[in-house]
Amino acid sequence: MRSKAAYGPIAISLHWLVALLIFAAFALGLYMTGIPGLTPTKLKLFSWHKWMGVTIFALALVRVLWRGAKGAPAPAAGTPAWQVKAAAGAHHLLYLLILVVPLTGYFYSSAAGVPVVFLGLWHMPALIEPNDALKAALKPAHEWLNYLMAAIVVVHAAAAVKHQFVNRDGTLARMLPFLK
Ligand code: HEM
Ligand code: HEM
Repeated sequence: MRSKAAYGPIAISLHWLVALLIFAAFALGLYMTGIPGLTPTKLKLFSWHKWMGVTIFALALVRVLWRGAKGAPAPAAGTPAWQVKAAAGAHHLLYLLILVVPLTGYFYSSAAGVPVVFLGLWHMPALIEPNDALKAALKPAHEWLNYLMAAIVVVHAAAAVKHQFVNRDGTLARMLPFLK
């Protein structure tokens, strides 16, 4: 469904909330894994990272459902067909990755036998039994899917900025209405 005139306030809020939380979780993920040893600070940061990731997953689910129900505006008039296809492909991949990246993190934690206690309050269920082979596979899967997502986000953001300021077709303003 690509029939709306513009993104609504909920779609815009969810886009930026998920984006900001992903930037924070990504930076924290890189920082915390670089801390040597197993210090209390490192364990605390791992917990915060997991809480952020679980929150991102929940918001991403809401986002995908909202998108399914509400659709999105048609691409800016005059956009070449290959760019329309590339943007649609990137958007589909991003929707997939904002669900799969937290899932790989969660399954990795379960495989490693470390529970997720959301906000230190809710003991979340382990989705799989501790398993060394899966643990060894899920760790690089979480890492490399993160790098894939980061690469797509860089191109996605660069395309939005290029369309806004070079083509002047208002693409970025669709997600940042104050630019209109
Ligand atoms: C969109 C959400 C998420 C993002 C952007 C993200 C990002 C990252 C990044 C960049 C790293 C460092 C990769 C490395 O160098 O190994 C990392 C590591 C890690 N993440 Fe996530 N993550 C997310 C969700 C989650 C979730 C939901 C969990 C678990 C509930 C989780 C658990 C972990 C763990 C345990 C590590 C450490 C892996 C290691 O020991 O090297 N992450 N994450
Ligand atoms: C983790 C970061 C991000 C993710 C996961 C993400 C994801 C997405 C997705 C899935 C859409 C498609 C919305 C739809 O049509 O249903 C979208 C649209 C959009 N995003 Fe992002 N985004 C991120 C960051 C950014 C950044 C940093 C910018 C700008 C600098 C940006 C600008 C836009 C714009 C302008 C649109 C609307 C495109 C159009 O209408 O054709 N996004 N984003």
